[in-house]
Amino acid sequence: MHRITTAPVTVPVAPIPARTRWAVAAGAGAALAAAWWLGDTAPYPYAQRGLLDVPLPFLTAGRTDAVLRPRPGERMLEIGPGTGLQSLHVAPQLGPEGRLDVLDIQQEMLDHVMRRAERHNLATITPTRSDARELPYADGTFDAIYAVTALGEIPEPDRVLREAARVLAPGGRLVIGEFFDRHWIPFGRLHRLAGAAGLHLTEHRGPSPAYLARFRLCGADTPVRRGEHLADGDREGDDGQA
Ligand SMILES: C[S@@+](CC[C@H](N)C(=O)[O-])C[C@H]1O[C@@H](n2cnc3c(N)ncnc32)[C@H](O)[C@@H]1O
Repeated sequence: MHRITTAPVTVPVAPIPARTRWAVAAGAGAALAAAWWLGDTAPYPYAQRGLLDVPLPFLTAGRTDAVLRPRPGERMLEIGPGTGLQSLHVAPQLGPEGRLDVLDIQQEMLDHVMRRAERHNLATITPTRSDARELPYADGTFDAIYAVTALGEIPEPDRVLREAARVLAPGGRLVIGEFFDRHWIPFGRLHRLAGAAGLHLTEHRGPSPAYLARFRLCGADTPVRRGEHLADGDREGDDGQA
């Protein structure tokens, strides 16, 4: 019996040109970026809460302290605390006589903050479920208000700023932290919105994609000169919108 032997067949494969490989890689990168951008929904999903505990560059606890300057005995409001990364750091600095109100539109976030507060024996945090566009507090209630990576995801941030100005005590301060994502408010835009809400800038740290800015009620003290406290490259207009 004859055995049929076959020689291996080699099919010539044309090499993929470098230009095509780059185009495929760029397409995949763009698709990933689009998925990240479009998947960034508001309000921030509780299911993704693990990421909220990752400190963001330029918005660290130390930098937030330096701009917010919490003092014992103060009454403060945090808008959009998420799982409480900042709340648990700020509340102890207010001491037993101080009080931190945390306001969020999602009950799950508030429950999470309160569970953590209990584990840390912190009894000075008061949760309120509400929409930050209508703050359920009397005029002039707070020594300070802050919102870190929250303002941009609330529709009508101009309304939130007007409400914050209303519930701030005379001489009180508002600190806003923003980080680049789909809901980010560039610094120049925030500066304009705050001005329209009767708040003037007193300090600003970090580049526009990751910054902290402090405001006071206009007329509460002498406004800083335009550009004072601003590092090079941080000035209004760096986002191209001012
Ligand atoms: C991205 S998280 C930031 C959490 C926290 N500040 C941090 O830096 O880890 C934004 C928070 O804003 C809250 N939020 C969104 N829209 C809101 C609204 N209209 N009123 C109050 N809170 C709101 C979300 O529920 C969420 O807890």
